[in-house]
Amino acid sequence: MALFTIDTERCARDGLCAAECPLGCVEISGDGLPVAHAKKADYCISCGHCMAVCPTGAFRLDRFDRPAAPLRGIAEAPSAGQVERLLMGRRSVRAFRPEPLDRGLLARLLDLTQYAPSGHNARPVRWAVALGADRVRGVAGAVAGWMRREAEAGSEVASRLHLGGLVRKWDEGEDLICRDAPALAVALAPERGVTPSEDAVIATAWLELAAHGAGLGACWCGYVLMAAGSDPAVRAALGMGEGLVAHGALLLGRPARRCPSAPPRPRAEVRWL
Ligand SMILES: Cc1cc2nc3c(=O)[nH]c(=O)nc-3n(C[C@H](O)[C@H](O)[C@H](O)COP(=O)(O)O)c2cc1C
Repeated sequence: MALFTIDTERCARDGLCAAECPLGCVEISGDGLPVAHAKKADYCISCGHCMAVCPTGAFRLDRFDRPAAPLRGIAEAPSAGQVERLLMGRRSVRAFRPEPLDRGLLARLLDLTQYAPSGHNARPVRWAVALGADRVRGVAGAVAGWMRREAEAGSEVASRLHLGGLVRKWDEGEDLICRDAPALAVALAPERGVTPSEDAVIATAWLELAAHGAGLGACWCGYVLMAAGSDPAVRAALGMGEGLVAHGALLLGRPARRCPSAPPRPRAEVRWL
């Protein structure tokens, strides 16, 4: 298969595709049309910048089954103020309204994480999603089992994270692990790859912001991550195969209450070089 197809009628011969390609896969021929670089075409990482930058939609990477999506309205928005509000207004939400989350909405938010940066555009992240409070509780129960074993063994992690107290609360019917959330999304990535852990953490952060933008609340669940690192029952509850690592876990739902203010945060510590 050729690397790309050019609609020669539409091509403005502006060279933008060649200038934008991060790996030099595209060069401009004598007639001003883009051609695949004889040696570097194989370096293509499918980032799609060549298509995204083309103002006339003339560039089509053959490996994609659809054209670039025009950013009508999205390219200009949001304003800097709206972005500030999005970033400052996000809080960890630990109290959820009981109504279930719509699967279509969650799928849309998960699709948005595909636009997050990924080392070499490898996109190694896959998601395990517990949808419905019962399913989330199933995962929380497996995590509580792990906590119980750690507490009984008197492990370092048990004393550092007060796991005994969390198990006591679980036994009393209070879920301080997954907070009765109606959904839990866990970002998984293979052990090996270009930057799998960074990609998964970034994707999770994007999901958290996308959820906030959609009026949902989210909270990272470090307990799920820790338990998924070693406990076979938790790994099984998340459907994790061999060689997968959980890097991000988000409780998701409609927030029971909202914070009208942002808490004080120190200024960023910066050493200007
Ligand atoms: C990797 C990570 C793990 C976390 N794990 C938990 C958790 O298990 N339970 C919880 O209630 N909050 C958890 N949090 C949320 C933090 O406590 C929270 O981000 C922090 O207190 C700041 O509050 P804010 O997110 O509202 O700004 C976690 C956050 C991160 C980044």
